[in-house]
Amino acid sequence: MTNSLRGFRDILPPDSELFARIEAAARVVFGLYGYQELRIPTLEQKELFVKSTGDTTDIVEKEMYAFTDGGGREVALRPEGTPGVVRAYIQNNLAQTGRNGKYFYLGSMFRAERPQAGRYREFTQIGAEYIGNPAPAADAESISMLVRFLEKAGVAECSVVINSLGCAECRKAYREILLGFLRGKAEKLCEPCRGRIERNPLRALDCKTDGPWLTSEAPKRALCPACETHFSGTQRLLSAAAVAYQVNTSLVRGLDYYTGTVFEVRSGALGSQDAVCGGGRYDDLVKSMGGPAAPAIGWAVGLDRMAMLLKDKPAPDTAPRAFVIAAAKEAGDRAFALLTALRADGISADFSNFELSLKSQMRSAGKSGAAFALLIGEDELKAGTAAVKPMKEGGEQFTVPLAEAPVKIKELLRGI
Ligand code: HAM
Repeated sequence: MTNSLRGFRDILPPDSELFARIEAAARVVFGLYGYQELRIPTLEQKELFVKSTGDTTDIVEKEMYAFTDGGGREVALRPEGTPGVVRAYIQNNLAQTGRNGKYFYLGSMFRAERPQAGRYREFTQIGAEYIGNPAPAADAESISMLVRFLEKAGVAECSVVINSLGCAECRKAYREILLGFLRGKAEKLCEPCRGRIERNPLRALDCKTDGPWLTSEAPKRALCPACETHFSGTQRLLSAAAVAYQVNTSLVRGLDYYTGTVFEVRSGALGSQDAVCGGGRYDDLVKSMGGPAAPAIGWAVGLDRMAMLLKDKPAPDTAPRAFVIAAAKEAGDRAFALLTALRADGISADFSNFELSLKSQMRSAGKSGAAFALLIGEDELKAGTAAVKPMKEGGEQFTVPLAEAPVKIKELLRGI
């Protein structure tokens, strides 16, 4: 027996249905905001992620599934969706041909992290990117769409945490102040942080080991007047959209491309892997990847983590409404036609094996959770009818002409 790899898992029913429900909620909400779907490749040139996600990030430095393919090309399984969207935006000239710069995607991402509850090596993200709008309204719209999507999917008890990292100028000034501070504390820092503070001092604030104490001791970031105005404008609009949020000036996020607004959605119910969503502005990325100057903002939720939050909530009933049974040897074809007619009329219907005994088929009907069993035996075969048996105790069996069965079942279902 060859098992799946560590950190790679099968999503089985009912979890697979939960995933599909969350995806359906996303499509409904994204449609209201004018987002269109982009399907991007799972495998890209490794260089794409090195240049965008960033070569000092854990994702690129330690977690990427990167390899040389048979043709000698350096490739990587995508660890996140944003670089691929930006590449597609530039490569397909979407700045000219696209509608409004609003794109969503969903699919597997790959990171060779240490697996634990809520952290997998292959996981699913749903992401939304808004390219081309520099205004605070784009930030507020992106975050409020996220919150409406979480609500629609049934996720409650989450907190939205926001911050602004400022523009390149703000960050440059803060970088120097922070670097000075970190150099003075070098002996207190963990090994990886010590190794990278000169290259990327901000990353230390996001470090799992040093982040907590640095958050209280390190100097706080300051914003230039333009960034301050943008950030307060975003907050005003979030309040206007009735989005509850907290400002946390220590939130930095572990990817290199962020500028200005960054945010996360967290849930205490998830334990140590508490981030349901992460996102932010990346105003310089499109240009730095060879595209037009197109400021952008976006986010991605972890579907696996959303599913964990929804696992214990009552699921909508997915049992078939009707279960068709052939109660005579020759009734199989007629029963199959009835099954087809019920489904064609929008009634979810199932069957087991028309060649098995009535008792066995009835047992399957009971297990299926169907509201009604429809039986075709010798009498029904002759009369062109079906016997309808309510599966609830005490329900009276009755007969309907075959052609009327779907209408009758619909009528009865309305009464349940
Ligand atoms: P990220 O914070 O790296 O951001 O990931 C977003 C979400 O993906 C996380 O909040 C988490 O729910 C989920 N996630 C990440 N790693 C794992 C894992 N190993 N197992 C399960 N779930 C995981 C990004 O990926 C950015 N591309 C978001 C973005 C879009 N920023 C701008 N646009």
